[in-house]
Amino acid sequence: MTGLYERHPYPGKLIVVEGIDGSGKSTQLRLIHRWLEAAGYRVFFTEWNSSELVRRAIRRGKKKGLLTPTTFSLLHAADFADRLIYQIMPPLKGGMIVLADRYAYTAFTRDVARGVDPQWVREVYSIAPRPDLALYFRVPIEASLERVLTGRQKLKYYEAGMDLRLANEATESFRIFQSRILELYDALTHEFDLKVIDAVRDIDEQQQVVRQLVMDVIRGVEPKKPYERQSLLRQRPAVQKNGRA
Ligand SMILES: Nc1ncnc2c1ncn2[C@@H]1O[C@H](COP(=O)(O)OP(=O)(O)OP(=O)(O)O)[C@@H](O)[C@H]1O
Ligand SMILES: [Mg+2]
Repeated sequence: MTGLYERHPYPGKLIVVEGIDGSGKSTQLRLIHRWLEAAGYRVFFTEWNSSELVRRAIRRGKKKGLLTPTTFSLLHAADFADRLIYQIMPPLKGGMIVLADRYAYTAFTRDVARGVDPQWVREVYSIAPRPDLALYFRVPIEASLERVLTGRQKLKYYEAGMDLRLANEATESFRIFQSRILELYDALTHEFDLKVIDAVRDIDEQQQVVRQLVMDVIRGVEPKKPYERQSLLRQRPAVQKNGRA
């Protein structure tokens, strides 16, 4: 394994999305996923905190308030390591396009915002290959807050960083905690060559920018069925006239 600072040697491509909660990562990645599949590419999708191995432990730890910043970080690292070995590496080695909703950079921001040592957490994730494209969706806190609260009444305890006792009130705690994370993301952009996307823009505008970046990266990857391949450029826009994705 080559680590996050060197280009990986595998025939597939690894594309990851990052950003604070509500920045619109999943929305953009979902559109990319559909677009690539429609063009005949073999795509594998994986997301943060989805490994069966530790999901229950994380849920239980959260519910009972047992997690410290270090155990929280290590459980997420176990989730990551499990998905890396069994989900991310095989398709990457097999020449597929792997899409990851959050990657090691989430740990480098969230865990560090919780007080974990930045160097230590980088070592924990040194098994991770460097993505071919790491997109950072950058939005101000107020925009993310508004989006997170769309269609829901309350902020979640951990997304607001309530475990850190930064403020008594969830919205205020969210602002402080997510601002720390935002600053840490900004500081990572040079270290890891994150491509900054202006995530305040509307969904379709962003999608055009993202598709261009993805196209540059997947050059050389063969779609599964060449005869079925539609030109990526000839496909419909991501968002229809009624605004629906
Ligand atoms: N460009 C945009 N403009 C306005 N609203 C958006 C935009 N992109 C996404 N949204 C909306 O904001 C909300 C959050 O988007 P999404 O789930 O994609 O964010 P996320 O970054 O994946 O968040 P999380 O980190 O919590 O998973 C959704 O309701 C989505 O429809
Ligand atoms: Mg999401």
